[in-house]
Amino acid sequence: MGFRSASNPVDESGRQYHIGVKPGDLPRYVILPGDPGRVPLIAKFWDEYRELSSHREYLTYVGRYKGVDIAAVSTGIGGPATAIAVEELFRVGADTFVRVGTTGVLRRDIRLGDLVISTAAVRYEGVSKMYVRPEYPAVASYEVLLALIEAAEGLGLRYHVGITASSDSFYVGQGRPGFRNYLPRQWSDIHIRLSEINVLNFEMEAATIFTLTNIYGGRGGAVCAAIANRVTDEFAPGAGVEDAVRTANEAVRILREWDALREERGKKYLTAGLINEWFSRSR
Ligand code: URA
Repeated sequence: MGFRSASNPVDESGRQYHIGVKPGDLPRYVILPGDPGRVPLIAKFWDEYRELSSHREYLTYVGRYKGVDIAAVSTGIGGPATAIAVEELFRVGADTFVRVGTTGVLRRDIRLGDLVISTAAVRYEGVSKMYVRPEYPAVASYEVLLALIEAAEGLGLRYHVGITASSDSFYVGQGRPGFRNYLPRQWSDIHIRLSEINVLNFEMEAATIFTLTNIYGGRGGAVCAAIANRVTDEFAPGAGVEDAVRTANEAVRILREWDALREERGKKYLTAGLINEWFSRSR
């Protein structure tokens, strides 16, 4: 099928070039894992699901979770691939994004397998600077943030809430020695300097999601499983991943309920009063 133009690479049926999805295919709520292999792990908790598209690192499933229309789209690793996914997802009508991923934590008291829910992200990456000046904050949506906290509480999980650093580099940029121990001085103790200013963790995509969702008027949040502890130097690849996935799915259900109540009450913003009402109703 032909594409409309080089500046807007959409095919004649309206499918976006990278994610292979067109307007109307997806609901507004989208879970964003980095790894395509995690998409089926997310969907296995849904009532029903189907694969909609698979192209390069972008695997898309749609389905229903506890009666809520939901999608999961993998972003690949890092800011540039993530920005492509988020760009194209906005174009097809999605506006609420929950990143679920893995992370390296910068504090001794955060155990492997614990969850980190991000309030904001340090923009140690490049792609967001192509969208907007570095002074622009990469903050999570307070609604998605609260839904993630509520979900983790409801599931009885160990979680931490705070500032994340998103890096374009897994190795040198996160203070890990490169090949032949290459490590420029500017990065050699970055994990220590960030922990001194109360940054909880390193990952690679949250800042891009937060920057773009704020620019485009959507909502973004992130929950990551601690698979690395940079203080104790421990590493366990699968630790907490299923807990992070369950938290992201539950957060979407909660957000849908909060959105419905907000609309019912004619409110522009989610308030503590509305959450209170939701809480009494759901008991
Ligand atoms: N992802 C990262 O970016 N860093 C880690 O240490 C672990 C996961």
